[in-house]
Amino acid sequence: MDLPQPSHIPHVTGDALTTGVAIEGLSKSFGSLRVLKDVSFTVKPGEIFVLMGPSGSGKSVLLRHIIGLEAPTEGRVLVDGHDPMVEDTRGHVRMALVFQDGALFNSLSVYDNLALYPREHRLGSEAEIRERVMHALQILSVEKAASKLPSDLSGGMKKRVSIARALVIQPQLLLYDEPTSELDPVMAATIDEIIATLKDEIRVTSIVVSHDRDLALSIADRVGFLMDGRLIHIGPPSGLKAPEDPRIADFLNPKIDIRNPRFKSLEA
Ligand SMILES: Nc1ncnc2c1ncn2[C@@H]1O[C@H](COP(=O)(O)OP(=O)(O)OP(=O)(O)O)[C@@H](O)[C@H]1O
Ligand SMILES: [Mg+2]
Repeated sequence: MDLPQPSHIPHVTGDALTTGVAIEGLSKSFGSLRVLKDVSFTVKPGEIFVLMGPSGSGKSVLLRHIIGLEAPTEGRVLVDGHDPMVEDTRGHVRMALVFQDGALFNSLSVYDNLALYPREHRLGSEAEIRERVMHALQILSVEKAASKLPSDLSGGMKKRVSIARALVIQPQLLLYDEPTSELDPVMAATIDEIIATLKDEIRVTSIVVSHDRDLALSIADRVGFLMDGRLIHIGPPSGLKAPEDPRIADFLNPKIDIRNPRFKSLEA
């Protein structure tokens, strides 16, 4: 398999965040649905913060606030002291979100997907953009996919292309939404290694939303646990080994009763 060699990632940026990310009393409602409830925490510069929690607990909505795609109903978010909703913040902080579904444009080649943002924002000549794009694809070992359409890629390659697209802007803050979902264990471990290496090599601050306890145990500096819109726990990943909070223990070690009538059909 054509696996990347994360230990050989060259430097693509050197300027780390200085104060990190602060979430202060963040609440978000969509109509009468209260999705985030008074969430507060900080992410330190250069840290990998893993956010876990059940489906529908508000993890993706929280990430969208950090990158400025969603406005808080109450409270605020600061990225290196700047409000991400303000256009000017993009001049101060380079941040990128690796979307849960990849969010690649299916009508564009992999190369054109990666070149789209730098072209629109005139981040250099076509030759400079080409260098950036190919460099990002090389970091993730997917340069051979440059001329392919996203629909022609496997799930693992799509994830790597999505991370490569985020790297094109040379991010200081990288947000990942479920980067290892739907991947086999080897590819998931490879993505874990890439996230950890990017942190070490380019000093990027990372916030990773994931259900994957192995990912949290292997790469997180700290873990937060979101349940029903509230942050119910924050601490080192070792706390996931024998969680004291029964809600977290039940989530990580679900008990399945095989006498449940719902499993009847499986007996036939
Ligand atoms: N734009 C929106 N308008 C209305 N409701 C929304 C919107 N975006 C998210 N929601 C609701 O907010 C809740 C939290 O959604 P979110 O996508 O953050 O969950 P999640 O924790 O990321 O779940 P998953 O693990 O399944 O991805 C859900 O009930 C969802 O339906
Ligand atoms: Mg989500």
